[in-house]
Order: sequence, then C-alpha cells, then structure tokens
Amino acid sequence: MNRAELETLKTEALAQAGAAETAAALEAVRIHYLGRKGLLPQIMKCLKDVPPEERAAVGQGANALKLELTAALDARLAALVGSQAGQATVAAGAFDTTLPGRWMPRGSVHPISQVIEEAVRIFATLGFTVAEGPDVENGYRNFEALNTPDYHPSLDDKDTFWLGDGLLLRTQTSPVQIRVMEQTPPPVRIVTPGRCYRRDTTDATHSANFHQIEGLYVDREVSLADLKGTLAHFARQMMGPEVKVRFRPHFFPFTEPSVECDFTCHVCKGSGCRVCKQSGWIEIAGAGMVDPRVFRKVGYDPEAVSGYAFGMGIERIAMIRFGIPDIRMLYDNDVRFLKQF
Ligand code: DAH
Repeated sequence: MNRAELETLKTEALAQAGAAETAAALEAVRIHYLGRKGLLPQIMKCLKDVPPEERAAVGQGANALKLELTAALDARLAALVGSQAGQATVAAGAFDTTLPGRWMPRGSVHPISQVIEEAVRIFATLGFTVAEGPDVENGYRNFEALNTPDYHPSLDDKDTFWLGDGLLLRTQTSPVQIRVMEQTPPPVRIVTPGRCYRRDTTDATHSANFHQIEGLYVDREVSLADLKGTLAHFARQMMGPEVKVRFRPHFFPFTEPSVECDFTCHVCKGSGCRVCKQSGWIEIAGAGMVDPRVFRKVGYDPEAVSGYAFGMGIERIAMIRFGIPDIRMLYDNDVRFLKQF
C-alpha cells in the first residue's frame, strides 16, 4: 500500500458511502472498510511493509480516512432516515410491520359530568343560562342572605366546613342565586351546577363532597305551577317519557311555600320496590317560591316580582340514571368502572 493507492481507496469508500440506499447497505460499507477484518485495519497492520519514506504519510492518511468515512456513513444514515423513501427502507429492515400498533386508551366523560351536561342542555332549551360561583363562599351568601338565621343547625361546625374569617366551603349551590340577583336586575333565568361540601360521614348515599344543580327563575307573576311544569319537563327529558313528578310540602328558609319534588321510581315505575323503600317515589329536588325576605336582601321588590327556585343532587340523578348502587364508586376513579358509561 502506498499513498496513491490509499487515495484511490478513499475515493471509492466515500463514493460507496454516498451511494448506499439502505441502512443495510451502509452497514455493509462500514464492515468492508472499518470492520475488525476490514481494509483500514489491515492497512494499519501491514504498515511495517510500507516503504519507510511513505510509512508516516500512509499511517496518517489511513487514520484520517477512518474518521472521514465514519462521518460520511453517519451523515448518509441521517439523510436516509430523514427522507420519506429512506424511512420506508430503513423501517422495512428495522421493524416488523406485522406487529400490532400501540394501543391508545380513550377517555370517557365522567357520569357526573354527563348528568351536568345533560341537565344544562335540557334547561337551556327552556331559556336558562348557566351561572357559576366559587366553592369558597362567605357565611352571608350561604346562609344569611338565604334567610337562614345564625341559630339554624346547618351553620353548626358539625355540618359545615368553616374556613375562618366568615368563609366556608359552600353547603349548597343556593348562594349563587344571591350572587346573580345582587348583580342583575330581574328577570333572571339561570341554572348553576357545582360542587358542595358538608361534614357528612361517607356511606353508600352520602359524601362530604357532592354536586348540585340549582335553578332560579324570577319574573312577573311566576307561579308554583310554572315550577311544577319545568321540573316535570326536566324529569321526562332526563329519565324518560313515562316518569311522573309529585310535590310534597316541606320547609326551606329561602322559599315559601317550599316543596320536595319526587320522581316515580325508575326501577318499579311507581309500584313499590326495595330501591324506593316500597313508596314508588324517589326524592330528587328541594324547591319552592323565593321568599320575599330573600328578594329584599338583594334589592328586588317582592311586590313587583315573584320567582321559583330549585336545587337537586347530581349524584342522586347519576346513580338512578346509570343504576349505580354506591355513591363512592363515582369518586374511586377506577377506569374500569368509569368507562362503562
Ligand atoms: N339548597 C337546598 C339543599 O341543599 C336545596 C334547595 C331547596 C334549593 C329549595 C333551592 C330551593 O333553590 O328553592 O338542600
């Protein structure tokens, strides 16, 4: 091997590297020149046979060629991988295209969110818009403005998460009624979905954190019959056309008169079963005609306007609609459970 031969070898090697069309072809070039038994290592091994006056130059030339060829092979590989045709050929050699693809798990909407979305949609068809308020409320909006005196048992530390400075985690979505009326003159027609908090011991039907959707309609000459028609329409849309509603007299500080609203039991359709404790009815909502004292708190004239309000538990509706026996299942976040809905 002399310098001229080395030059020829270099031209050939670089030309082959540049012309290779696949990763496999590139690898063959690398092995031919640089592999353990390749041409360049052999040259190094036979340096002693090179005439002494050329030996240094050939040795240095061979080393330089090694570096240059390695760089050329790398560059060619990068170019092949970068080009589309190259990708296909590289892939063809590197991957088994018959392997199954990677599975991308698909999420689903949580049943609580589904019920909220559906309720908002139903009320929207009746002209209700969505209003929202914060989870951290003050005692005034959660209780006092709702005509709930400070000796009322629901203010007790046993029932309410007080945060200090008169603040609390709202126990109901009703304070959003106050927020809206404080800021908007009548008429008002809103629904307010959201989280609520109570110091309840968790069991199959109770959770310290749950959701409600509240409704408020204030205008001239709104009546209890309007309330019943609205809730009956909601019930049929949410539960199916055969469901019936009934009102039972009740008491809430912020409505007068107050009612509880029951839907016929979804399991027995009203004939009586274990789920409805043989009554045929399931309690769904609290409701009533807004108390004049509440109107006065927000600066509405109770002689000029009247209104109805209602509040219902989202979890209760989700459990009935989807046949979920235990409220805790809604919070376990077990994907195997959630993806069924
Ligand atoms: N806030 C009541 C509760 O949590 C439910 C309720 C009753 C809301 C009557 C209302 C209403 O708006 O008018 O039990």
